[in-house]
Amino acid sequence: MFACTNCGYKTLKWLGKCPQCGFWESFIEEDAKPRKAAKTKDVTLVNIKELAQTTEKRLPTGINEFDRVLGGGLVKGEVVLIGGEPGVGKSTLLLETAAKLAQENKVLYVSAEESINQINLRAKRLGICPDNLFIVTEDNIEDILPLFDKDFSVVIIDSIQVVRLNYLSGSAGSLVQVRETTGVLTEKAKKTGVCLIIVGHVTKEGVISGPKVMEHIVDCVVYFEGEKNSNFRILRAMKNRFGSVGEIGVFEMTQKGLEQVENPSSIFISQDNQIMPGRSTACILEGMRPMLVEIQALVTKGNFGMIRRKTSGFDFNRFSLLVAMLEKRLGLHLATQDVFVNITGGIRIDDPTADLALVAAVASSAQDFVVPADSIFIGEVGLSGELRIAYNITQRLMEAKRLGFKQAFIPEINHKKLNPKDFFGLNILGFNNAKEVIEKIKMKT
Ligand code: TYD
Ligand code: MG
Repeated sequence: MFACTNCGYKTLKWLGKCPQCGFWESFIEEDAKPRKAAKTKDVTLVNIKELAQTTEKRLPTGINEFDRVLGGGLVKGEVVLIGGEPGVGKSTLLLETAAKLAQENKVLYVSAEESINQINLRAKRLGICPDNLFIVTEDNIEDILPLFDKDFSVVIIDSIQVVRLNYLSGSAGSLVQVRETTGVLTEKAKKTGVCLIIVGHVTKEGVISGPKVMEHIVDCVVYFEGEKNSNFRILRAMKNRFGSVGEIGVFEMTQKGLEQVENPSSIFISQDNQIMPGRSTACILEGMRPMLVEIQALVTKGNFGMIRRKTSGFDFNRFSLLVAMLEKRLGLHLATQDVFVNITGGIRIDDPTADLALVAAVASSAQDFVVPADSIFIGEVGLSGELRIAYNITQRLMEAKRLGFKQAFIPEINHKKLNPKDFFGLNILGFNNAKEVIEKIKMKT
């Protein structure tokens, strides 16, 4: 059998070009050695009632933002995949994590990508020098496996694309190698109870024989992401057999490594207090974590026939819908205008309840009125401008109150269920549609 190292397409004879993904010279021969038929054995049954009494013990990494994403720390024998683009900071995060863990556990860091010297330089830069952290720069997995038995609590593999199993054909990083090495490592981790953290590179175009084939094998998949030109990094759980997904950890890349950002709201809203049109604040929810972010919009006259629309950090299609809605329902004249939207701090918003803040920012810039800086906007906006119900409104409002906001513009459908006493100091206003919200802001200014 031959398999495409890019997409996994299988064929009986070698092909120059993959008919599925169009890659050239990506076929390698796959050893389809039949596994020996195993002897049958009795299967043990476990009563779930007895299990319920045992509580699983967690091994905290010592980095709170990472622990939050893992669901409180590592579980014995857990396999975690950390995916991310090259250069985002995976090795930095893991070296810091390893150092923290090594304060109380024996940790093995398999760095097949970098030399001892490079790691040493990085460790110096990060200012770490723990007793129980051991480094190897070996890329052959067969040589690594015996180390699992040397009472390490945690093993880190950096990265899966450069380690290999010698008995398999195909170069390191090929689909077959990635899949098989992950399988073998996972099996070993489960058998020995060692926690295993694997790094996997992801490329912009999607994935080349990378994390996607590993996702179903491992217990937990987290992605480490960051926008270009921004120092903020977000760690996001995409799959977690031992915790919830959607949780995020926020970090800032500094000269001395990654620093945890325990209070993300404070960085995503600008501190300059300048009052001008085109700015508003939204409260998004990342996992269970409310975060305030500032949305900036700029509406200017475009060149005839060449209007520009750009967003950074906000879904472009959603933005286009909202711009169309603003034209039709609020009578804004945007057809000849350039419209730019930016989310400060380089964060990407997926939460639809940020719609109302975006609408407010665009309308404010287009019509040149100021949105009060002490106000927060929560609500998904429909195509006729109606405000839809926002989930977890209480948490969002609490966060706004905590950060000193004085007013909240929210959907009426949420508003009527709230008890204003719970949010003393925050004036909460309910609306049925975006038009009313804009009119209300304009009345005040
Ligand atoms: P790295 O952890 O090597 O990324 P990955 O393993 O995901 O490929 O991080 C590389 C980038 O991080 C590099 O461009 C330099 C930057 N960096 C800092 O800004 N400060 C630091 O203290 C360190 C160690 C790296
Ligand atoms: Mg690296």
